[in-house]
Amino acid sequence: MSTPTTHPVQLDLPGQTHVADGPHDQAGMYVMHHAFRRDLARFEAAVRQTPLGDRATWKALAGRWAAFTEVLHHHHRVEDESIWPLVLGHARERGDAESVETLEAMEAEHDTIDPALAACTEGFASMVDHPCADHRNALDVRITDLRAGLLDHLRHEETGALPLIQVLLSAEEFDSCEKAAGKAYPLRRIPFILPWAMAGLPEEVVTRFLGGAAPQLKHMLRLLRPRFERGEAQAFRHA
Ligand SMILES: [Fe+2]
Repeated sequence: MSTPTTHPVQLDLPGQTHVADGPHDQAGMYVMHHAFRRDLARFEAAVRQTPLGDRATWKALAGRWAAFTEVLHHHHRVEDESIWPLVLGHARERGDAESVETLEAMEAEHDTIDPALAACTEGFASMVDHPCADHRNALDVRITDLRAGLLDHLRHEETGALPLIQVLLSAEEFDSCEKAAGKAYPLRRIPFILPWAMAGLPEEVVTRFLGGAAPQLKHMLRLLRPRFERGEAQAFRHA
């Protein structure tokens, strides 16, 4: 009698569009997607609700936006360099045209998101330099557009590409992706990224996520949270 294989229980976080069951625990990916979705909703609300005259908050928002775009950039880069090529190679070997198309779309979608991000960066800068209704309206249009595009991309990735990781990658290959993702972010951003990634997650998810990590990481999170939360309260005070 063969032993049934037990798969890890995958995270199913608010906003997530699909749970890809399989042998690889994709918690890291789902946690990042949760944080991107959460941020975009808050930025959209902040752009609409922050008073034009509150310059300190627009400045804080522009700084917070820079952190968001930097994390997103590194997230996409590690996918494009270390994850999708590996999965794509297997899809091609199998002659699986539909999967090849899905995986090729991932990088193409990243490319369309970049100019939309740059347009928002310009928009936040214009609100710092010269806050007026015209600049706000332009930024509102841009952030709404970016959010719609990124949500579409995350949905496509979760429903189409993440299930392929489960089917096509070996344990060793998945491990190499996890290692690449672990090294994808600049060290100087870690004090931001750790509390940022955990923000808004149920405490049991935080515990599970950091469960296998060194105790120093949990201690670090406790130390970093107050500063991060002060920054959030400042940037999103009207959202
Ligand atoms: Fe992703």
